[in-house]
Amino acid sequence: MFTAAGAIAKRLGRPAASAVSIRASATASDSALGQEKSSNIKEFSIYRWNPDGSSNPQQQVYKIDLNECGPMVLDALIKIKNEVDQGLTFRRSCREGICGSCAMNINGKNGLACLTKIEKDAAQTSVLPLPHMYVIKDLVVDLTNFYQQYKSVEPWLKTKTMLEAGQKEHLQSKKERLKLDGMYECILCACCTSSCPSYWWNPEKFLGPAALLHAHRWIADSRDEYTRERLEAIAGDYKVGRCHTIRNCENACPKGLSPANQIIKIKALQNTL
Ligand code: SF4
Ligand code: F3S
Ligand code: FES
Repeated sequence: MFTAAGAIAKRLGRPAASAVSIRASATASDSALGQEKSSNIKEFSIYRWNPDGSSNPQQQVYKIDLNECGPMVLDALIKIKNEVDQGLTFRRSCREGICGSCAMNINGKNGLACLTKIEKDAAQTSVLPLPHMYVIKDLVVDLTNFYQQYKSVEPWLKTKTMLEAGQKEHLQSKKERLKLDGMYECILCACCTSSCPSYWWNPEKFLGPAALLHAHRWIADSRDEYTRERLEAIAGDYKVGRCHTIRNCENACPKGLSPANQIIKIKALQNTL
């Protein structure tokens, strides 16, 4: 159950059109707009909402000269924050698709702002928070439920047999290790889970594609000795059963992973219990 404090607004889907107003903002330097012909101006329409203010959510439009900006959407967001509007709030850290913190909805598709190139030919780029998540401020969403669901699958090695004397670690062959490809690469960005219609409807009961991908990552690990218990723990109509193979998750994954295929493997193994 989401129990976000009053300061956290619930945003189910995109803001209703009636609740969104469009207003143009100042560019990095309005005076520079006089030279617009020689510059390469592009608009970014960015979701804004401040829990401490009284305004409804709105799309705020910023104009950026692409000649003075890096190639990625995150470059534009950082430029806007540094030069136009310090209040604009978003997460980012690595700037190279590793940390997963810059996940957001760009031109209608979930993705990482640091890996998404600015579409130079399109007049405007829209940037919204991940869909169907509680918004904390602007592009920052509350991932508490997402992380709790990840934790619930116990994403660590669990064994029953003790290591033999002198043995320092649990070993596996290269062939066994290869079975983890397509899962260990996940950076927990939540692009998949927030794109899944089944998760939109049952975020408290359905574990969602990211947590289930990690569940299978440990089910498939040759060193883990709790395979049956793991499969039983996520059995039933909701935890894994609410996946209807819609496959939005794999389309949204910026790392090219397929949580959908991992969930299919989980269901097949559960049928053998
Ligand atoms: Fe992100 Fe892909 Fe992992 Fe989902 S599976 S959390 S989209 S990296
Ligand atoms: Fe959702 Fe992916 Fe299943 S989009 S329904 S988790 S295949
Ligand atoms: Fe780390 Fe984008 S800033 S993934």
